[in-house]
Amino acid sequence: MLHSIDFMTTHNNLVFKLISPKETYPIRHAILRAGKPLASCKFDGDDLGTTLHIGTYQNTNLVGVATLLNAKNTELEDVVSYQLRGMAIREDQQGKGLGKKIINYAETILQEKHVLLLWMNARESAIPFYENCGYTKSGRIFDIQKVGPHVVMFKKLK
Ligand SMILES: CC(C)(COP(=O)(O)OP(=O)(O)OC[C@H]1O[C@@H](n2cnc3c(N)ncnc32)[C@H](O)[C@@H]1OP(=O)(O)O)[C@@H](O)C(=O)NCCC(=O)NCCS
Repeated sequence: MLHSIDFMTTHNNLVFKLISPKETYPIRHAILRAGKPLASCKFDGDDLGTTLHIGTYQNTNLVGVATLLNAKNTELEDVVSYQLRGMAIREDQQGKGLGKKIINYAETILQEKHVLLLWMNARESAIPFYENCGYTKSGRIFDIQKVGPHVVMFKKLK
């Protein structure tokens, strides 16, 4: 049976729901792994029972994805934590508030599961977006091979 929060519809016909790892691939590939093999869209931990994949649909078209992985960051607080991975909005839908809505949905799901901290390795270009969503930078910028500069960002969930 679906838990109420496993499915959410907003006033403008956006649907947020939990999807399978493979359903994230079209957007992961186009936005985060463009020009790379499809196999590069599979992330470690995708198939774990504790991992959650969020899909956002507009009129049945997938427009955004995000993945939530049960993982602590040893440089942050030692509390129940999830890592946000594979956050991407279809290019023609960026800048319309969808990313922020996915983050809000992710935080709601995690709060229901009593998760206390959400963190991510934020691409440098996405730092202002995460700051706008209430996330704080931690530590220095570091390089992820073949992807580019990133920084750890986090938010405590209540
Ligand atoms: C980063 C990304 C997920 C953001 O989603 P989005 O739908 O484009 O962002 P939103 O429209 O929800 O933006 C939310 C808020 O952040 C602000 N914001 C977003 N990007 C910003 C930027 N580069 N600089 C300043 N503010 C920014 C918006 O102005 C908006 O502010 P408001 O709520 O006050 O109006 C999306 O653009 C994307 O997929 N980018 C390419 C892939 C990527 O970088 N993913 C993140 C990997 S860590």
